Amino acid sequence: MSKVKLLICYYSQTGHNFQMANWAKTAAEEAGAEVRLRKVKELLDTSDPNPSWKKYLEDSKDVLEATGDDLIWADGILFSVPTRFGNVPAQMKLFIDQQGGLWAQGKLNNKVVSAMATAQNNNGGQEMTIRSLYTSLCHWGAIIVPAGYTDNSIYAAGGNPYGTSGTATREGFANDLESAVKHQAKRLVEVTEKFVD
Ligand SMILES: Cc1cc2nc3c(=O)[nH]c(=O)nc-3n(C[C@H](O)[C@H](O)[C@H](O)COP(=O)(O)O)c2cc1C
Repeated sequence: MSKVKLLICYYSQTGHNFQMANWAKTAAEEAGAEVRLRKVKELLDTSDPNPSWKKYLEDSKDVLEATGDDLIWADGILFSVPTRFGNVPAQMKLFIDQQGGLWAQGKLNNKVVSAMATAQNNNGGQEMTIRSLYTSLCHWGAIIVPAGYTDNSIYAAGGNPYGTSGTATREGFANDLESAVKHQAKRLVEVTEKFVD
């Protein structure tokens, strides 16, 4: 079997999606994938961050920014984003919108994709955010792998079948997420494997 190349592409401001991306990386590597963990470029002024933002910026300083080459390299892509008013954050949207050149060359066809999201509230827009992301990925010709109810950990995390939903608090997460994130990453690797030559 070939080794799946998995890109984990996230945006985070206060660290929750960074944590989820790292859980996913651990699980995907355990499942045998070669993993690139990448953040998308920050668009906000970072010169005077609040304490939680500052901590995240320090924790993630060695993480490389995602590029089009990472998308070409990847067989599968797992996205993780915080909601912004029920939608995909501009930082991730811009990264997606910058890929018109690759899209026109057909280089985004058949990427096997899945997505996760966080919000401050239990029902603060995670489902809409994931669904919005999937809309753009349909235009890429991606193969979407939803979480469904493929594992008990999904129920424990709140039961979002589109992708794992985190409820972000100052202390961490209000819901039990780690197992669901790890299941989603492992499942994406296993499904991607079926599409790799
Ligand atoms: C401009 C803005 C809009 C937000 N909109 C929502 C929202 O609609 N619903 C919600 O529950 N949380 C909302 N939040 C909270 C974020 O989604 C939350 O802080 C994020 O999921 C934490 O993820 P992170 O630590 O990876 O940045 C918003 C935050 C900001 C800054």
